[in-house]
Amino acid sequence: MFWKFKRRWSGVMWKNQLFYFSAVIVFFLFVNVFLFQRNFASLEAENNVDPGGTISKLNYDRAEVTKTRQVFQERNTRHNLRYMFENKLRKLLDIMESNLEHTATYGSNENEIPFEKYFSDRLLYCDDILNITDMTYMASGWTKAVYKGTFKGSPVAIKTVDVKGQEVTTCVEAGSSQTACYIKAAKKIVKEIVVLQAIAGENILKVLGFCLPRNADDNLWVAMVTELGEAVDLIKLLQMSWEDRLKVCLDITKIINYMSKTSYGSMSMNDFRRQQFVLINGTLKLSDVDDTGFEDPSCVVKADCDVTFSSANFSQRTRCIHNKCVDYNEKRNVYNAGRHFVTFLLPHGAPPNLQPIIEKVVDGYNDLTMTSQQLLKLMNDIVTSYKTGSYLNRTKSDHDHSKYSVLHESDLPGLYDYRCRLSLSIASCTISVYDEHEAEDVCNNEEQCEGFVMTKHITWSGRRLVHLKNGTGKPAYNADTTLYIRQR
Ligand SMILES: Nc1ncnc2c1ncn2[C@@H]1O[C@H](COP(=O)(O)OP(=O)(O)OP(=O)(O)O)[C@@H](O)[C@H]1O
Ligand SMILES: *[C@@H]1O[C@H](CO)[C@@H](O)[C@H](O)[C@H]1NC(C)=O
Ligand SMILES: *[C@@H]1O[C@H](CO)[C@@H](O)[C@H](O)[C@H]1NC(C)=O
Ligand SMILES: *[C@@H]1O[C@H](CO)[C@@H](O)[C@H](O)[C@H]1NC(C)=O
Ligand SMILES: *[C@@H]1O[C@H](CO)[C@@H](O)[C@H](O)[C@H]1NC(C)=O
Ligand SMILES: *[C@@H]1O[C@H](CO)[C@@H](O)[C@H](O)[C@H]1NC(C)=O
Repeated sequence: MFWKFKRRWSGVMWKNQLFYFSAVIVFFLFVNVFLFQRNFASLEAENNVDPGGTISKLNYDRAEVTKTRQVFQERNTRHNLRYMFENKLRKLLDIMESNLEHTATYGSNENEIPFEKYFSDRLLYCDDILNITDMTYMASGWTKAVYKGTFKGSPVAIKTVDVKGQEVTTCVEAGSSQTACYIKAAKKIVKEIVVLQAIAGENILKVLGFCLPRNADDNLWVAMVTELGEAVDLIKLLQMSWEDRLKVCLDITKIINYMSKTSYGSMSMNDFRRQQFVLINGTLKLSDVDDTGFEDPSCVVKADCDVTFSSANFSQRTRCIHNKCVDYNEKRNVYNAGRHFVTFLLPHGAPPNLQPIIEKVVDGYNDLTMTSQQLLKLMNDIVTSYKTGSYLNRTKSDHDHSKYSVLHESDLPGLYDYRCRLSLSIASCTISVYDEHEAEDVCNNEEQCEGFVMTKHITWSGRRLVHLKNGTGKPAYNADTTLYIRQR
């Protein structure tokens, strides 16, 4: 009897399982068909481009059609990549949410969670984060609190939810539970982890690792570990040498160009401020990406594609191609990068011969007449000219009769320093030069200058640092420096 019952029971079970299997298969088929249809729908749309009415219109439209086709092919690959990316994000959010709500099916060991599948280049895990020493509070924004610490001898930044921050406080005041509010804020950090890793590059803050909560009682809450940077504030920017500001301007131009052509689409930044960037060893990197998207806005009529700027009295129209405002995000980013960085950092203190090309760049940023690609080309031209010394506009006859005597392996440490305009240091007249002839020219133009010490210190662009001196007596031995003495 019992056996029979069991047999009947397993029969029912078996039927149930069959039912579930069929349901799963049907579901997958449905998803596949759905995806196929979506891709197919856009392929269809590509072929459905209206050839236009008149002959002349037809000719004009042919170029448009090619352009449209390119836009669409690009959009298809981007669409697929973005789908994978969103999938990854959703999965991570699910894992975290279910862990926090105690319905975890992943167990308490995070290594059981298939993170490696998603983040193969992750360097740090939760246990490593516990091992970070010298944790000190640094800064906080709306959602996050940022700490610095040391991991295996290297400085790192740790970002976590600021439980006393605006985001969580406002959410709790609005009547949600502490946990729900925490999860909401934590999701922003998770999005940031995924986005930063997805767009990883030279000018993107590097994520070294992260920890997602394993259960609601876990005292290891959401944390992401990145390289440590410095805040980018206005005073710091204005106090930089022109050369270092040139680097910042080059980097922000690289960043907006990079953002305009990620594999997921053209990136938008809804909250473009200097605080979203950090400086790491003189390199500007995009750091805060929780308020970003990867799609240009949709449009029905042309006016939907007007890019307007609340802070300026002008707007520009981008083209509406197949219900997308092409280049909309890029225009906004160019405008913001100009306003927050380039237009006030680049002209001030620039070498006179570079002024004309700098004006072009500033105009391009101001009236949005150039794409980020064109701006980047000009910036690279400026940097090349500065690096190679061609901005000095020298003729061959310029330097046949040097009025300086040279003392090799000589230095004047701490002696005869004076202050000068555009110096890299407050206490001395320290500047970077292309070569000793440029240093001579600078010295010749300074009444106080009696000579200079040429060092082997190289700046980011490969120029040499020199210290100008208002006297030259009693030189000391230094294998790495050369003293040039002005002959009046
Ligand atoms: N890697 C880093 N190294 C050093 N400082 C950093 C780093 N990342 C962020 N900061 C600093 O911490 C501050 C807050 O960080 P972040 O902008 O990520 O937080 P948030 O809560 O998203 O702020 P926001 O209000 O800008 O959205 C930043 O303004 C920045 O100066
Ligand atoms: C953490 O630090 C301890 C002691 O310093 C060390 O024994 C342990 O191996 C470290 N753990 C990891 C994951 O590095
Ligand atoms: C804005 O621009 C328009 C046309 O360019 C001009 O007529 C108007 O006076 C400007 N307004 C302000 C506040 O500058
Ligand atoms: C550079 O020198 C050339 C020839 O000497 C001159 O025509 C040109 O205007 C100079 N350029 C600048 C920016 O001074
Ligand atoms: C050099 O400059 C410093 C600082 O301005 C000044 O104190 C010093 O007297 C000057 N020395 C000579 C030799 O002019
Ligand atoms: C910092 O930048 C300088 C010059 O750009 C470079 O030589 C140096 O290796 C960098 N340091 C690190 C730690 O990346």
